Amino acid sequence: MFRKSEFERLFRSVEEAESLPPVFYTAPEIFNEEMRLAFRGGWVSAGRAEALVEPGDYLSLEAGGTPVVLIRDQAGRLRAYGNSCRHRGMRLLEPGPGHCERIVCPFHAWTYGLDGQLQSAPRMGDAVDFCKADYGLVSVPVACRAGFVFINVDGNAPPIDEWLGDFEALHRPWQLETLVTGSTREFDVRCNWKAFLEVFNEYYHLQKVHSGTFSTYYAPPDAPEAVRGNFTTQFGEHRSVSSTGKLDDGTPPLPPMPGLSGRELTGTRYSWVYPNLTFAASIDALWALEAVPLSPSSTRATLTLCFPTESAGREDFPEQLDKYLYRMEAGLAEDIPILEGQQRGLSSCLARPGRFSPRLEPSVHAFQCWIASRLTG
Ligand code: FES
Ligand SMILES: [Fe+2]
Repeated sequence: MFRKSEFERLFRSVEEAESLPPVFYTAPEIFNEEMRLAFRGGWVSAGRAEALVEPGDYLSLEAGGTPVVLIRDQAGRLRAYGNSCRHRGMRLLEPGPGHCERIVCPFHAWTYGLDGQLQSAPRMGDAVDFCKADYGLVSVPVACRAGFVFINVDGNAPPIDEWLGDFEALHRPWQLETLVTGSTREFDVRCNWKAFLEVFNEYYHLQKVHSGTFSTYYAPPDAPEAVRGNFTTQFGEHRSVSSTGKLDDGTPPLPPMPGLSGRELTGTRYSWVYPNLTFAASIDALWALEAVPLSPSSTRATLTLCFPTESAGREDFPEQLDKYLYRMEAGLAEDIPILEGQQRGLSSCLARPGRFSPRLEPSVHAFQCWIASRLTG
């Protein structure tokens, strides 16, 4: 659909590059191509593994516009299936989390095991050569890395470790796979999914948008590491000790993550696993945001806040958690009106590509180059 030459100005160095044309934030045809090539065609994040504990725990979600169910099977393995009945295509499980012993279609009651096999199909005895083994749920590749679940809807992406490259090694000190979820919240924003994720990966807007809350909290960030894999990451020091920053009421923050040492104890690693997961691995907590594109101009976001088990087990954890949530809510309340205003501006026929702040927006540039590369194949 696109040729590399169309992105010639974007593919320059961040000092020289021009940003993606505004139509990439508004056009339905481009959105559909993104869903096909960047979401269904690659590995996308589908939440935290610790959300699905017991056999039968499931999460029904959409990935690149495709209904998928993630479920823990009898053997304790995480599985993913197309959430469409093999009889006449009914969506099997309503969106959201849940628990079931087996999956029963609400239409004509075809029933599947947690292993995806069709167990029963009522009154099909007179269908010639009908064999239940031929009509199991369609499997979707699923993998779990650093406590995050990833799925590949079209089944054609490279193996997960090739896709993620250095991702696990770079995040090892934070021991992300050992963290537990303290809180999770879903909300919708009237902006393109790329714009939603971009604002969490640039320091440039802090000074203006967050001037009343935490703009003074961060020191200028390091340059992003040169990494192998479909992600970008950047470390930045804090000016105060915990990730609750200046909204802290003076009581000590939760203790640092057990695996951190040296400079890791002074700041946050901001990472963006393309296309849809971004997180801040901070001294004391992990703040993760996952985006589900609903349309060119609307995005569903899930905010998850995770902690080491030692912190989550403390008696004062509920009060501490409130302080962490307060900080995130304060930030989001400032970001969301900006994102919605940006979407209005981008929708104008008079909108044009812009330039990047090389020091403060390198991750936005890296991501835009990534999405443009996916679209050009
Ligand atoms: S569509 Fe599922 S049983 Fe008929
Ligand atoms: Fe922000």
